[in-house]
Amino acid sequence: MKALLLAGGKGTRLRPLTYTTAKQLVPVANKPILYYALEAVREAGIRDVGVIVGATRAEIEAAVGDGRRWDVRITYLPQPEPLGIAHAVKIAHPYLGDEPFLLFLGDNLIQGGVRHLVHEFNSLDAAALILLKEVADPRAFGVAEVDASGRVIRLVEKPSVPPSNLALVGVYLFRPAVHEVIATLQPSARGELEITDAIQGLLDRGERVVARRLSGWWLDTGKKDDMLEANRVVLEDLQPSIEGEVDAESRVAGRVVIGPGTRLVRSTVRGPAAIGAGCELVDAFIGPYTSIADGARIVSSEVDHSIVLEGSVIHLPGQRLADCLIGRHATITRAGTRPAALRLLLADDSEVSLP
Ligand code: DAU
Repeated sequence: MKALLLAGGKGTRLRPLTYTTAKQLVPVANKPILYYALEAVREAGIRDVGVIVGATRAEIEAAVGDGRRWDVRITYLPQPEPLGIAHAVKIAHPYLGDEPFLLFLGDNLIQGGVRHLVHEFNSLDAAALILLKEVADPRAFGVAEVDASGRVIRLVEKPSVPPSNLALVGVYLFRPAVHEVIATLQPSARGELEITDAIQGLLDRGERVVARRLSGWWLDTGKKDDMLEANRVVLEDLQPSIEGEVDAESRVAGRVVIGPGTRLVRSTVRGPAAIGAGCELVDAFIGPYTSIADGARIVSSEVDHSIVLEGSVIHLPGQRLADCLIGRHATITRAGTRPAALRLLLADDSEVSLP
């Protein structure tokens, strides 16, 4: 079986980060989201992985390479325009051939991997296996209507009046019949070929679509708060390891990773928290559910429940940052000069929330 990993699209909901970074490469617990999908695919025993790439192709290729790191063979499949998930499957048809395949959306994170699903699908006589998860607000997802026995009756993409609270998770297993349905699809109201419509098409043709409920967590990392939640949940499972230097006046408590070449001076890190390599923490407090990427410098500041990307500098005496997503090489400092005004240089679509 091959896997198709989607790493194209626009990532508009994560701007401004996605002006300079592919959405699927934004890190959770200091690891790009896409790497979790690659690990899950390999762990399920799949070695041939097609990766759909769009405008951010160069960056995805630089981060994933030929797949050797995961012991998989990567084939990049360019999608000229992000015309929908089913459109991406259409582009991949020659690569996938007429074999069953696993479709994995590159911005989805699921607990427990996909090994059991792949295994189950192999023994099932079904055209598709989909995963459902109860969510508080299903309007942002594909939504399934199921009968009392759990059988799928109908699927709708981002309905304004959802028929249930069961969202479609971005991990699907298909047999080749789906290609025939996709060939007949028309673009949806948002101008995309929807994978949800393709699965509905399978149902309409009388094909068997099996739905399973996901018991563990699932995160669709579309927006800032989703990223922070993903970071929180993944850090909960962190394996502690301290490679950097922690001086005698610093404290590390709970599940904490401190990367090589990182120095803690009179600082406290209260886990779960991940600090990358080559960082400097001086008179700093890093609170739970925080990831600080490589080369960041945090001085006389407190950072809590946040993601800070590579090379950023935070120097904010007496101030606590919380619920922040800070891009690469950002600088946040207290100047101490008059006038005591906020001086900002912000990228397009930035957000600043003052107390
Ligand atoms: O996350 C689960 C949801 O994913 C499902 O519940 C929905 O039914 C499904 O349509 C999808 O909805 P989203 O609106 O969240 O999909 P998004 O546009 O964010 O695309 C998902 C991933 O696929 C993302 O990593 C970008 C990539 N992609 C997307 C499109 C539209 C492509 O590679 N090419 C594309 O044309």
